[in-house]
Amino acid sequence: MRRKKIVVATSGASGVNLGLKALKLLPDEVEKHFIITQNAEVVFEKEPNTTFHKNENIASSISSGSFGIDAMIIAPCSMNTLAKIACGIADNLVTRCASVMIKEHKKLILAPREMPFSAIALENMHKLSTLGVIIAPPVMAYYSNQQTLDEMENFIIGKWFDLLGIENNLYKRWE
Ligand SMILES: Cc1cc2nc3c(=O)[nH]c(=O)nc-3n(C[C@H](O)[C@H](O)[C@H](O)COP(=O)(O)O)c2cc1C
Repeated sequence: MRRKKIVVATSGASGVNLGLKALKLLPDEVEKHFIITQNAEVVFEKEPNTTFHKNENIASSISSGSFGIDAMIIAPCSMNTLAKIACGIADNLVTRCASVMIKEHKKLILAPREMPFSAIALENMHKLSTLGVIIAPPVMAYYSNQQTLDEMENFIIGKWFDLLGIENNLYKRWE
């Protein structure tokens, strides 16, 4: 069976570690692609089984619809990147890949990180949501009784994996 191809990208919002942790937790059966920002470059050069793409490299394989990426998650997603995607701007690899996901009707998950959200951000989210983009911000739930930051992050990442169709036991489900 063909391996699922998934892109994890981060943008300049707080919580970059969430995106990196999601990448690490993705199962090995997945073909993993990561769009790396300059800051994360040093830390993650040694992560195994992952193809790294520089955000400036717009000619990267994943920039074309023909490469066949199945799903992309941008976690965290800054309001800047959110706004660009909502307007169809594709000026770096993250925004280009997102625009490819939209035009190819592939799964795109955004985890916008800001508090509170401005009306502009909410409008952008609404517009993208109506186009089928999944807006899944890093918002906590309390029913699974997380005690540590690690468990709270696992809850959020587990919810993202659910949306990506990746089986996981990262959080205690409501019964
Ligand atoms: C320390 C720091 C924290 C930031 N946190 C956020 C944030 O949580 N959400 C957000 O939308 N922007 C945040 N920003 C602003 C973005 O980094 C800025 O808008 C940047 O242009 C985003 O670029 P990018 O979308 O290409 O990553 C933060 C900036 C700094 C310096």
